Amino acid sequence: MITRREGLQAAALTALSYSRVPGANDRVQLGLIGAGGRGKYVMSVFQKTGQVDVRAVCDVYGQRIDEALTKAPGAQSFTDHRRLVEMKEIDAVLIGTPDHWHKTTAIDAMNAGKDVYVEKPLTHRRQDGPEIVRAARVTGRICQVGVQQRSGAVYLEARERFVRSGMLGKVSHVHCVWHGGPPRPLRSGPAEKPSNLDWVRYLGPVRYRDWNPPQYFNFRAFLDFGGGKMTDFGAHWIDVVHMFMDQDAPLSVMAAGGVFHFQDGRTAPDTISALYEYPGKFTVNFESFALPNGAGYHVEFLGQGGRLWINRNRYEFHPGEKGAAPIVQEFPGDITDQHVLNFLECCRSRKLPNADVYIGHRSCQAALLAVESYVEKRMLHFDGQREEVLPLSA
Ligand SMILES: NC(=O)c1ccc[n+]([C@@H]2O[C@H](COP(=O)([O-])OP(=O)(O)OC[C@H]3O[C@@H](n4cnc5c(N)ncnc54)[C@H](O)[C@@H]3O)[C@@H](O)[C@H]2O)c1
Repeated sequence: MITRREGLQAAALTALSYSRVPGANDRVQLGLIGAGGRGKYVMSVFQKTGQVDVRAVCDVYGQRIDEALTKAPGAQSFTDHRRLVEMKEIDAVLIGTPDHWHKTTAIDAMNAGKDVYVEKPLTHRRQDGPEIVRAARVTGRICQVGVQQRSGAVYLEARERFVRSGMLGKVSHVHCVWHGGPPRPLRSGPAEKPSNLDWVRYLGPVRYRDWNPPQYFNFRAFLDFGGGKMTDFGAHWIDVVHMFMDQDAPLSVMAAGGVFHFQDGRTAPDTISALYEYPGKFTVNFESFALPNGAGYHVEFLGQGGRLWINRNRYEFHPGEKGAAPIVQEFPGDITDQHVLNFLECCRSRKLPNADVYIGHRSCQAALLAVESYVEKRMLHFDGQREEVLPLSA
């Protein structure tokens, strides 16, 4: 268990453990761990800032390393992240591995004195979250989680304009929808394991099984590696709820769903609906269905003063009064840019980043609770202070 106070302590309090703090004009020396789709993309966002040099890339699959090196020529390459974090010249790492490797790579990097930008969901197992938070606090490292909404101008502006101003009024329900595009069948891969792919290392903490292309190329669809749509998309939207409602843990959750659409061996539900109750007297539901037209990707706050609808590029406020005109604002561009800039700024200032590890831990925890509820087919009551699921009799 980690207390809220510990969770919110500024990283600056343990400033003595810094190995190097980049100065205002220093370029941050970056290492990439996990050079798949997201890792390579966010690496390019870092490069676009003009404030970093990518010094090393690490992946368990040689092909991914080669792809990353075309974007970062001259970087050193590794298949074991422990060798990368030993590099003294590296200040910070970007972690884009699948969820089941986030904990180990993040903790090893922080123990080696690196600041960390780790993709969401913070972890695959609920009990790992507090350990990662504690590692960040003990080592004094900056740890930003990839819930980029926390830095997005669209979210920051909407929160001030409608929530904090009181315009939205008391919110009693939040409706979160993310259908994730038209249903996609599993990506196939070579029947023979590529000789430059270290499958055992890929599995890491996960129980051994022989080379399994669907699981390598679609880890999200398998509960051994990910939490399906609940942690892939739900972790983002639950974090927006936490951000706007100033909450960090639900009182209870009940999730239902299943693999209703596909018959291809996946174990994570393609259809999920989770209903939460939060302190402050409001409920939240998150739903993600395999819809042919893929429509639906937003969070909607239902308040006494109106309705706030928001996604990554637009907000709409519909006032409660009949006939009142909605207030609509568009925000082009990718909010990841703003999140990466915030991380780099914090590497220099040592201030807590917008999606500090404690924040990312709490939204991941709420998403994982829904996965647990789905698997156990029961409602879970949660003690947010102690970070424990209450026993059935409670
Ligand atoms: N913030 C966002 O909007 C966003 C968007 C997409 C993905 N993500 C997150 O990014 C992560 C990666 O997703 P992806 O779509 O890029 O997956 P991916 O499968 O394309 O890439 C993962 C890469 O990690 C490598 N890898 C696995 N174990 C490793 C290890 N021990 N050391 C080094 N490399 C290792 C794999 O070989 C692969 O190349 C996931 O956690 C996902 O949830 C976040």
